[in-house]
Amino acid sequence: MTEVTGAPRRVGAGLVRALRADPLEEMSRLVREHGDLVRFRAAGRHIVLAAHPDAVQQVLQSRHTRYSKRTPPIHRLRSVLGEGLVTSEGDHWRSQRRTIQPAFKFSEIRALTPTIEEIVEAELAPWHRRDVAEPRDIAGEMRRLAFRVVGITLLGADLADLVDDARGALELLQDQANSRLYRVTAPPSWIPTRPNRGFRRALVELGHVVDRVIDRLHAQPEHERTAFSSLIESMPAAQFRDELVTLLLAGHENTGNALAWMLDLVSRNPEVERSARSEVDGSLDGRPLTSGLLAELPYTRQVVLEALRIYPPSWLLLRRAEHPDRIGEHEVARGTLVMVSPYLTHRHEQFWPDPEAFDPGRFTAERMPEHRCAFIPFGAGPRKCIGDQFALIEMQVVLCSVLRHFRLRPEGPPPRPRAAVSLLPDGGLWMTPVLRARAAHERVRGSGAS
Ligand code: HEM
Repeated sequence: MTEVTGAPRRVGAGLVRALRADPLEEMSRLVREHGDLVRFRAAGRHIVLAAHPDAVQQVLQSRHTRYSKRTPPIHRLRSVLGEGLVTSEGDHWRSQRRTIQPAFKFSEIRALTPTIEEIVEAELAPWHRRDVAEPRDIAGEMRRLAFRVVGITLLGADLADLVDDARGALELLQDQANSRLYRVTAPPSWIPTRPNRGFRRALVELGHVVDRVIDRLHAQPEHERTAFSSLIESMPAAQFRDELVTLLLAGHENTGNALAWMLDLVSRNPEVERSARSEVDGSLDGRPLTSGLLAELPYTRQVVLEALRIYPPSWLLLRRAEHPDRIGEHEVARGTLVMVSPYLTHRHEQFWPDPEAFDPGRFTAERMPEHRCAFIPFGAGPRKCIGDQFALIEMQVVLCSVLRHFRLRPEGPPPRPRAAVSLLPDGGLWMTPVLRARAAHERVRGSGAS
């Protein structure tokens, strides 16, 4: 292993406040000033911030057995997701992962391409209907779209009528989880503080939505069953419920945000938009998408990857050292909290020169960094995202569908990323999709007038 650079330092306790106020900025400052492995104490806890891909690889992959996900945010999330795939550990997690994995078989996910395209086209229909192009909050729309995609493709059930109720409850729950992300000493959940009462209410609401989904799955005819929904027959009811909520949440929140960031980046980089559109027009020539056709669109795939590099929705992966370890020169005591941040690793200048520039060309075979953990939007090792291929296909389909019909006009300055449970565009993400026919018309009129 190459030596991880940067001496470990202790940094003041006020750091927790700074991390809570603006984690991305504060973590970036730490790495800038102290190197890509920083050690500090906060609220009586040892914390290590590991930004170098070598350290990432060790914690998530090569020595993953020394680390667990038993961390405060995961503990809190457990009251929403129970013992689902994201929150469980050990033998239980292993057996669940083995049971659910077949639902994510690559060949099956690829075969969903035309279905995903149909859903995307249906969700984009209101964009066509407007007589006058107007700004829209793409972030909200993309999370909604991603929710429907998960419902139809993984569960075989259209949850369009439940999207608003489910998202309302999930948003409340996430707000609560966000406010506790760095709060090591928050009041326990049984104390009826206002946030705790709000949390309970949202949990009850989510419970109602999940009951309705489960009723629907019980009534599902055999031929509509999917690899996942048929598990309702064989898995204990409480366990199926936990996995269902996990997939609904994990399957749409990150993807929705990733889609919104990607469209924003494309809208602000006209060169990239032009190149991607000319690939889509040239290769698809109006044909519906299939997995085979997606493979013929390498540039749009690079756009997807580059968007995930700049704005990785899972910006923070936390682990707890269950056994003492050594990262490079440095001892990691048992109980240490290790922060792995895709956001930081994706900006490591040794692997990503000029890291803030949106440059999909980085993902050509010649320019991609060789280090397997320099690009970790889906994590790495055994706990790597189960839906990574699913998300990549969905993102490429959305990009192609949008570019086929629309030009994207950004509204206002680029939104700031807010480091919530998922990386959110602060204040939503506004842009105006202009139908291409209309955009061409406006251009002709504009040149006539000048
Ligand atoms: C752009 C979209 C997505 C991103 C950026 C993303 C990111 C991640 C990351 C980083 C992890 C690992 C967390 C850790 O190691 O602590 C993860 C785990 C997971 N993701 Fe995703 N994800 C995305 C989409 C999806 C989709 C579409 C699904 C399912 C339909 C999904 C389901 C899961 C599950 C179940 C886990 C837990 C896996 C385990 O621990 O065995 N994700 N995701």
